[in-house]
Amino acid sequence: MMQETRLHPKDLVYPIFVTEGERIQNPVDSMPGVFQYSIDRMDEILEQVKAAGIGGVMLFGIPAHKDPQGSQAYARDGVTQRAVRYIREKYPEIYIVVDVCLCEYTSHGHCGMVRGEEILNDETLPYLVKMAVSLAQAGADMVAPSDMMDGRVAAIREGLDQAGFTQTPIMAYSAKFASAYYGPFRDAAQSAPGFGDRKSYQMDCANGQEALREIRADIEEGADLVMVKPALAYLDVLKEAALTFDLPLAVYNVSGEYAMVKAAAANGWIDERRIVLENLTAMKRAGAKVIITYHALDAVNWLKEE
Ligand code: PBG
Ligand code: ZN
Repeated sequence: MMQETRLHPKDLVYPIFVTEGERIQNPVDSMPGVFQYSIDRMDEILEQVKAAGIGGVMLFGIPAHKDPQGSQAYARDGVTQRAVRYIREKYPEIYIVVDVCLCEYTSHGHCGMVRGEEILNDETLPYLVKMAVSLAQAGADMVAPSDMMDGRVAAIREGLDQAGFTQTPIMAYSAKFASAYYGPFRDAAQSAPGFGDRKSYQMDCANGQEALREIRADIEEGADLVMVKPALAYLDVLKEAALTFDLPLAVYNVSGEYAMVKAAAANGWIDERRIVLENLTAMKRAGAKVIITYHALDAVNWLKEE
């Protein structure tokens, strides 16, 4: 009765990797229990999502063809657009969030356009807008730009409004740190940068005040939710953001955080169930309204047993 923080299935969003092709369900080595699915194999996981009654899914597309402009990111029949249409039609009750970024679609693996070894901020914006609009057209409920280019929230808001999607909310990856915790994700999404790193557009882990400035900028540009990412090593940033802003906060419990728990659990060194519920509760206690986590489906089952 007196417990201050209580997890609810609707707090949780489950990430899903969708790949081109047929009859594919590829395990991701560094993320036990996580798979890449072709669209015809998604039902199995979508049925679990539906039964769990969680807040939603977050889609990541893995196209067969990558080019410097990431053209499959905004193609009408791109793998991500087709996956959205499939879910929208067959599972109307599932809330669909889509990650908006170019790194899974570009041959160089960077989140924006490049010239030589330079990442081009402003030149990237129109491509992100095209991607967001094409996903809304396919039936996405919410778009979540994760590229970290300056000005992209305002550009996407304007593009969505002009295309008639005035009701489509934007969840901005606002305080996204350049983190080693994304390692396993880059295997799962096949999106590791071909040269250099993401430090020119993602944030330095040493900078908490800058994180608040990034969040403020995204709110001013029209974000409906703002995110802190990764989660556990950045709960101080999350807490400070919760005390500073009056917008719902999301947190992304990322791939490396998941991999560490799974590896220790597989060795019998920790109690996975208790660790996961403790971690997720801490994220909510620190101020997260929405928790994006690969543990979502397990957590719902464990919560039922409590
Ligand atoms: C794409 C993107 C990344 C993640 C979410 N969206 C990878 C990156 O920025 O390199 C990471 C998610 C995770 O590690 O679970 N920009
Ligand atoms: Zn990216």
